[in-house]
Amino acid sequence: MLMSPKSIRVLHCALCLTVFLAACSNKSSTANKAVDAEGHQWWQHAVFYEIYPRSFADSNNDGVGDLNGIASKLDYLKDLGVDAIWISPCFPSPQVDFGYDVSDYENIDPMYGTLADFDNLSSEARKRGIHIILDFVVNHTSDQHKWFLDSKSSRSAEHRDWYVWRDGKGPGQPPNNWTSTFGGSAWQLDPTTNQYFYHYFYVQQPDLNWRNPAVKEAMFDVTRWWYKRGVSGFRLDAVDTLYEDPNLTDNPIRPGTNAFGDPFEEKKYTTKLPEVHEALRGLRKVTDEYNGVLIGETWTADIAELNLYYGQGNNELQLPMDFLFTTVNRLSATEFRKQISAVDSASGWPTFVISNHDIARSYDRYGDGQHNDQVAKLMAGLYLTLRGTPILYYGEEIGMKTTPPTRKEDVKDPIGQTGWPKEKGRDGERTPMQWDSSDNGGFSKAAPWLPVPDTARTHNVADELKDPNSVFSFYKKLLSLRHTNRALMDGNYTPLNESDQNVLSYLRAYKDQGVLVALNMSGTEQKVTFDLRKQGFSSAQFLLATGQSSASGSVVTLEPYGVLIAQLSK
Ligand code: GLC
Repeated sequence: MLMSPKSIRVLHCALCLTVFLAACSNKSSTANKAVDAEGHQWWQHAVFYEIYPRSFADSNNDGVGDLNGIASKLDYLKDLGVDAIWISPCFPSPQVDFGYDVSDYENIDPMYGTLADFDNLSSEARKRGIHIILDFVVNHTSDQHKWFLDSKSSRSAEHRDWYVWRDGKGPGQPPNNWTSTFGGSAWQLDPTTNQYFYHYFYVQQPDLNWRNPAVKEAMFDVTRWWYKRGVSGFRLDAVDTLYEDPNLTDNPIRPGTNAFGDPFEEKKYTTKLPEVHEALRGLRKVTDEYNGVLIGETWTADIAELNLYYGQGNNELQLPMDFLFTTVNRLSATEFRKQISAVDSASGWPTFVISNHDIARSYDRYGDGQHNDQVAKLMAGLYLTLRGTPILYYGEEIGMKTTPPTRKEDVKDPIGQTGWPKEKGRDGERTPMQWDSSDNGGFSKAAPWLPVPDTARTHNVADELKDPNSVFSFYKKLLSLRHTNRALMDGNYTPLNESDQNVLSYLRAYKDQGVLVALNMSGTEQKVTFDLRKQGFSSAQFLLATGQSSASGSVVTLEPYGVLIAQLSK
């Protein structure tokens, strides 16, 4: 007989599984302070939350979010269960790439406020135990940065060698075949000195020359400056691209063209050069002086590459982002199981991300159009119960959907303008946070920089706070569990029922405590039997489930896309 979750108190488990000893490798520098007997650092127990500042909360009603807006929502974040916020770039910038073109690393863009506003945000966050992580754009600056303005002024300028300058191959011919990932040649001729400068991204984002020790030192100093101001770490932007081949070897070309009409290029000589790791070790040394954390935007192809970013003895990034996870673009128990096991075997602490300001939101990436709210809860049930640090993207907790522009003239992201219609850009995942059902979703009293999707009427913070069955309420309950349940905080990960193609299930076990997580990745009801006697667990207590998902004896019944989480004991 099926029982409703509330009526289930004891579930006798007889779970069969292969014991999987997850390598809990968290050797870290002595400069880091452990927060528990397992030697974990604060960032290993923390829940991170990415804020795209343009779109979070607009305190001065100019249509663009700001730091005071973020400060006004700290209680909301605390209540949700957030321990650290990563703020996408809020430094002075011409905003060509919406802040990823920095013109001064040691200030705040007036659009977002002032340094005093930052200090206020920082102290208000600290009062609530929330850490601040800044987004450090390491590969390039804006072409308006004083370093570049000097660099381009003459071949003998003090900062000339701070960027990558080369002669063309001949009149009108760039130095080689490298293309920008945002379209067109990666080289731009500057008429003043008649040389080309290199830009992996937009032409307004010239690459810094990391081979120059002065650049390294200046960038390390930027992190010191912010650490001293109270930040707890950095998300390092586009680290794969820091170095390029000094001999300018042409990249191999594959058949076909991309959305920008450029030939497909294997970025062999422009990304992931081994020198990146030396730079990361340097940044890590500075970070360790301040007990900070480095998160990396690392587009790794496999676990071997991911391991390189943790570094030998874990001396590079503590949290290289696992985008491998985001490459599973459909609900597939088999695919996720494979991916999780791989990441769990990596040499460092896993990081889980399901969407961000460059990646379409999970709501509609996985949703089937009918059960999207259930799917949103299912995905939360997944990345918030794994061994590792989750990074939530703002709005995921209320089920915000990706809303790309429908007309080229509405596109704000330059990638969308140049790549339209094949590449619509990233506006769709950057729409304003939906705070309530009023005009502009309560984000601003003025017309927001991007339109607020119609779903603000049905999916918004104010309404979801009141609804015990909302996506928000599920996130909140899960995050509260995650912060208090020892097995979820410190337990090993062991996959269960590994041949099941519909239900992804696993055990998180710590000493004599365990948690069973069962996630139905299919659109039909599923019944699953567990036998956990081998692991020594004899009984289970219901912790959390969605809808009609329930358990009776050793059988768990999951509604379509249902989640069930149970506490196990010996
Ligand atoms: C990273 C950012 C992206 C930006 C690019 C250039 O990929 O996440 O938003 O456009 O770097 O800085």
